[in-house]
Amino acid sequence: MILYGLMEEPLLAPSLLSADFSDMRSALALIEAAGADWVHFDVMDGRFVPNLTFGPKMAADLKPHTRLPLDVHLMTVEPERLVPAFAAAGADYLSFHLEACVHAHRLVETIRSSGAKPGIAIVPSTPASLLAELLPLVDLVLVMTVDPGQGGQHLILSCLEKCAALAAQRAERGLSFLISLDGGINAETIPLASRAGADVLVMGSAFFSADDPAAALRKARDAFKAARR
Ligand code: DX5
Ligand code: ZN
Repeated sequence: MILYGLMEEPLLAPSLLSADFSDMRSALALIEAAGADWVHFDVMDGRFVPNLTFGPKMAADLKPHTRLPLDVHLMTVEPERLVPAFAAAGADYLSFHLEACVHAHRLVETIRSSGAKPGIAIVPSTPASLLAELLPLVDLVLVMTVDPGQGGQHLILSCLEKCAALAAQRAERGLSFLISLDGGINAETIPLASRAGADVLVMGSAFFSADDPAAALRKARDAFKAARR
């Protein structure tokens, strides 16, 4: 299937979730030196998911140490309570889960008016069709390809069909949101992600456990482009 509007190059977004939390500044420097496009910042609250990670102060403290866009992924209940602080901390993309918010339309508008680019995220059990009304309003759709909460899991293949459906919707409706795939993205799954129409690839363990993270990103880019030809 040829999909209109696909990017030739992926945006590669290593996730700080897989970094050494005692040395985040070095992790950020590694991400930048390795040639990444974005920095993915996973916020977990111990409620939407069992795990706990970072608050807005971590984002604000890291922000001056990178030129790359900060891609904040809120895996939290009541995301509206955290949006102002993360926008103020310098989030460039600010995504929250549809499953965690009744008034998603309002929150998208709030994020945009706070100066960040709004993103909407869905877990594997949420159909892409539930995003129909939001697609014209967001800059990013984050399709979780694992159940959220931790790194190092296997990609759930059926989530790629949602990615393809979203890419088709985008083309049909003339929209321009980016599609990000998050979870289990690695050398084996990147060709599948590329063929499904993804734009942004979040890489946690595949980046930080690589012997040579720069080479891992080069290979990711090449594999993405090869699968798209
Ligand atoms: C998982 C997070 C991901 C995580 C991905 O809940 O949203 O961003 O860092 O990790 P990997 O790439 O190891 O699956
Ligand atoms: Zn994430």
